[in-house]
Amino acid sequence: MSEQTLTITDNRTGQTIELPIENDTIPAIGLRQLKVQADDFGMMVYDPGYTNTASCKSRVTFVDGDRGILRYRGYPIEQLAEKSTFLEVAHLLLFGVLPTASKLTDWNARVMAQTQIDRGLKALLKTFDADAHPMGILVSTVGAMSALYPESKQVHDGRNRLQQAVRLLGQLPTAIAFAYRNRLGLPPTDPDGALGYSDNFLHMMGLSGDGEVDPVLARAMDVLFILHADHEQNCSTSALRNIASSDADPYCAVAGAIGALYGPLHGGANEAVLRMLAEIGSTKNIPAFLDRVKNREVRLMGFGHRVYKNYDPRAQIVKKIAYEVFEVTGTNPLIDIAVELEGTALEDDYFVSRRLYPNVDFYSGIIYQAMGFPVEIFPVLFALGRAPGWLAQWMELMSDAEQRIARPRQIYLGEAERPYLSMDERG
Ligand code: ACO
Repeated sequence: MSEQTLTITDNRTGQTIELPIENDTIPAIGLRQLKVQADDFGMMVYDPGYTNTASCKSRVTFVDGDRGILRYRGYPIEQLAEKSTFLEVAHLLLFGVLPTASKLTDWNARVMAQTQIDRGLKALLKTFDADAHPMGILVSTVGAMSALYPESKQVHDGRNRLQQAVRLLGQLPTAIAFAYRNRLGLPPTDPDGALGYSDNFLHMMGLSGDGEVDPVLARAMDVLFILHADHEQNCSTSALRNIASSDADPYCAVAGAIGALYGPLHGGANEAVLRMLAEIGSTKNIPAFLDRVKNREVRLMGFGHRVYKNYDPRAQIVKKIAYEVFEVTGTNPLIDIAVELEGTALEDDYFVSRRLYPNVDFYSGIIYQAMGFPVEIFPVLFALGRAPGWLAQWMELMSDAEQRIARPRQIYLGEAERPYLSMDERG
């Protein structure tokens, strides 16, 4: 018997099967051989929330949640955050390699050449009311790009895929800034292709006043985007892969991913953290708030993670950036509440025993607020940073011969067949 197998005995029947083990994984379909009756469907695995199911083989991002490790294409996040730029990381994620100096220049120019948005998109963005949530607007924006660029349906053409990816990376900041300024009743600011990606974004948002964007803030924005750029098979990326598995175009797939990201348990957490810190209001209220968390009345937003059972390495970097940004913007008083909240939680058995640590969203919102972003736009910033990761995962999916349309099974517990009841037979 090969050592690289798993032997399973079905105690209902005494049947024994042997399944191959590859990468510490068994093929779920192999379990279907286990049946009591010959015409049974066969054994499945039940895994709500996919807590222990690998849905793909990927070479993009590695996360070791127990040891607090995150790497893009093998490079540690700490080194990328210190030495790289966001577009360089986007290149790394999409192509698998760090670009040479000349390739990086070409790549930057290629993305920045795509920063103008279509007239139709501008018209659409003007239709939203001032109180429309920016994530709803973003879902619509990216969905509308599917209609504007019908050639994006050629998803099996590698050149076409790259063209759409570059277009989306280029246009997203402009569309977001346009929508933001429109909401405030301000005229749009044209993109400046000569600026860096984050510099140009802050310039278009108008967060630098009339002057140039402070380089410390542009760098902080770039690093925050790097930290968000990918996180393997999380909720939004899985949603994107599900949608794209039907050969839907990338705009529809990314719009779906943005929808998944919007929820407060995922990318909406950065907004929820800020609201939570504002609600706590003062460090003296922390013990009472934590009691409410432990009584399960509320969640400690920005804490806990499906994969990290150790400090999220991104949270450590974000915390450091916060103080660099405050040197320019002045401090955000919520940082004191956040630091004390973190410290108190990390000494409390409720959080220690469940291995709940701050995640990337715990400190990011405090920085965004200090930079002048309104709270409701925080998840949009997450989406902007995550775009290269979604696109890299999409490209990987589209060239993976083992992938098929995503179609999970269910355990049906509903009624067995029964005859239709006429109106007067119903109780
Ligand atoms: N506050 C209080 N208790 C928590 C928290 C939290 N933030 N997170 C988990 N727990 C508790 C749960 O109640 C559960 O306790 P129990 O075993 O006594 O019932 C235990 O810890 C395990 O939690 P699960 O909900 O089973 O963990 P899961 O992996 O399903 O959820 C999630 C992960 C959604 C991130 C969760 O930790 C959470 O809701 N956190 C707050 C929202 C947040 O910050 N989301 C951003 C995540 S990072 C990102 O998406 C980029």
